[in-house]
Amino acid sequence: MDETVSIARLCDHVDRMVTLAGWLYNSRISSKVAFLLVRDGTGICQCVVGKGDVPADVFELASRLGQESSLKVTGRVHAEPRAEGGYELHASDVQLVHRTEGYPITPKAHGIDFLFKHRHLWLRSRRPTAILHVRHAVIDAVGRFFNDRSFRRVDTPLLTPSAGEGAQTLFAVDYFGQPVYLAQTGQLYLEAAALAYGKVYCFGPTFRAEKSKTRRHLTEFWMVEPEVAWTSLDDLLVLAEDFVVAIVQRVLADCRGELEFLGQDPARLERICKPFDRITYSGAVELLRGPRARALLEEELAAGKARIEELETSIEAREKQRTAPGVKKHVQDRLAAEILDAREELADLNEQVKNIPHHMALAAGFEWGKDLGGSDETILARLHERPVFVTHYPRTCKAFYMKRDPADPRVVLNFDLLAPEGYGEIIGGSQREDELDALRARMAEERMAEEPYEWYLDLRRYGSVPHGGFGLGIERTVAWLCGLKHIREAIAFPRLMGRLDF
Ligand code: 4AD
Ligand code: MG
Repeated sequence: MDETVSIARLCDHVDRMVTLAGWLYNSRISSKVAFLLVRDGTGICQCVVGKGDVPADVFELASRLGQESSLKVTGRVHAEPRAEGGYELHASDVQLVHRTEGYPITPKAHGIDFLFKHRHLWLRSRRPTAILHVRHAVIDAVGRFFNDRSFRRVDTPLLTPSAGEGAQTLFAVDYFGQPVYLAQTGQLYLEAAALAYGKVYCFGPTFRAEKSKTRRHLTEFWMVEPEVAWTSLDDLLVLAEDFVVAIVQRVLADCRGELEFLGQDPARLERICKPFDRITYSGAVELLRGPRARALLEEELAAGKARIEELETSIEAREKQRTAPGVKKHVQDRLAAEILDAREELADLNEQVKNIPHHMALAAGFEWGKDLGGSDETILARLHERPVFVTHYPRTCKAFYMKRDPADPRVVLNFDLLAPEGYGEIIGGSQREDELDALRARMAEERMAEEPYEWYLDLRRYGSVPHGGFGLGIERTVAWLCGLKHIREAIAFPRLMGRLDF
């Protein structure tokens, strides 16, 4: 009996007749055989349609299918170590479900802008498929981690009457004539839930009207936020460390193929183990101003310049090859794709190299009290092998709710976790100010009206306890794990400043 199976499960059906339902990813046709590469979202399988093995009209059909036609292929599963995925289907029938002509995304080269305008179709390609599989594993790991540790999930509202983080990044929405805001965080509500249930977490979309067009910023991103009653900064660091290690382990266990496809050596993630380094903000300032930071940037500048020269030479050589007489079409296409990739890398590098002297000046002249900028975070991360915690920031550059350090009132009991390789802050968290008067004083300093936060102050009036938590950005984490140049690839339909295509 035929049965419809997914490509990922072909391993369970060797030497049996099955039917695959999918889409034509690519094909290679000769007079005697049609090789159809079929994708079904779980994998890609080569279906071999021999002229002698199927009726003439079926062979004719198989030989003339456009890319992304939807189809069903019936045949016998063969183990074939050389084939992608390790199995092939030797077809006895091909049924067309929907004929497609002129699919806009071909296996050859497209620029990144074109691909983002066609994101709804690009999702079907290998790269986004691999990235979104990793994202799925990350999200699944998040749920399991907190479930295993008896955290209760509490869903917090997305429409909120007041700011949770800075008032500068609020998106206003008209709520029956009253302005309300899209949630920047679930944290304040979660604090109420933590004092009710002990250990809680929320997971959902959050919104920031960030006017920054960087590789690290989305205006809509997904954040997971645990919040714990009876905790301390030190406990939170251990929780965050365990959490990140659990996510990394899960991705290593489930997504090796995806990582490899994305050009990522799994060894880079195998190195991520406990304990992560811990430095204070003041220690970070010293590092930034010191000789190691300078040497690192000088090295980067030299390496960048060398790579630019290499790329320029290779682009020129490929261009010559491509336009030489008698070059076959498929070779031209391959060269064009390589040239496009090299040009994109070159443009990025030129930009980076141009900025390095500026970053050097920023780091060397870093003044205690300023928030760390993107380039500072990159330098600090590059000076460490594993993710690094930066703790005890000056209170003036952090949110109003963070608890003042009793040992040094200039700083708060907070931390950021910086991912390796310059992916920036993936976690921000803190112990919360649990004393009513201290919190009110801090709000006054920030010129915040108390009235909208009365309920939040109540948490300090009735059974206040030391508590705290953190937020991990899913897209930044996926970008780091997958080695993506830009965070926009880490979500199916990204929202960025100046970009909302769908
Ligand atoms: O540091 P943030 O702003 O912290 C909070 O929102 C706290 N309320 C969390 C808490 O303590 N419960 O954001 C937390 C994380 C960042 O470390 C980063 O990973 C991500 O959210 N993030 C962004 N990701 C993409 N685009 C943006 N614009 C982001 N802003 C923050
Ligand atoms: Mg932060």
